[in-house]
Amino acid sequence: MKIGILPSGVFCCAVFLLAACGQKEISYKADVQPILAQYCNECHVAGGEGQQKSGLDMSSYEGLMKGTKFGAVVKRGDTLTSAMIMLVEGRADPSIKMPHGKAPLPKEKIDVLKKWVEQGAKNN
Ligand code: HEC
Repeated sequence: MKIGILPSGVFCCAVFLLAACGQKEISYKADVQPILAQYCNECHVAGGEGQQKSGLDMSSYEGLMKGTKFGAVVKRGDTLTSAMIMLVEGRADPSIKMPHGKAPLPKEKIDVLKKWVEQGAKNN
């Protein structure tokens, strides 16, 4: 009977590892910031078109979390109502799809941003 424990133990480990891999922690510095730098900062830094119109300066974590002159664009843990995610997914009015007037982000980049928000939008 004892031998029966082994395969189920191995199976549990495999399931655990898979779950752990799916939950890879996204890093603001290593994963999120480079995406924003490449696709957003052209307009969302001090003096840029997006920053001047909306007040959103994404050149720093603090600026991103501060949001626009109307408020937050990132709500920790909430990808559905975070404006940043809504706009890159094209869920809002087409006139404010982001990046503004450009091709949308590749899906895998959007997924990184979503996971980061889901995991609490940490400054990590
Ligand atoms: C080519 C310039 C440009 C780029 C690139 C750009 N934006 Fe914008 N963004 C704008 C402008 C202009 C506005 C103001 C839109 C308005 O109010 O009509 C804006 C507004 C916003 C807003 C606030 C919308 C609101 O009024 O609630 C968010 C959030 C935003 N951008 C996110 C992003 C993100 C995320 C990226 C990168 C994926 C990005 N933007 C890239 C120009 C840009």
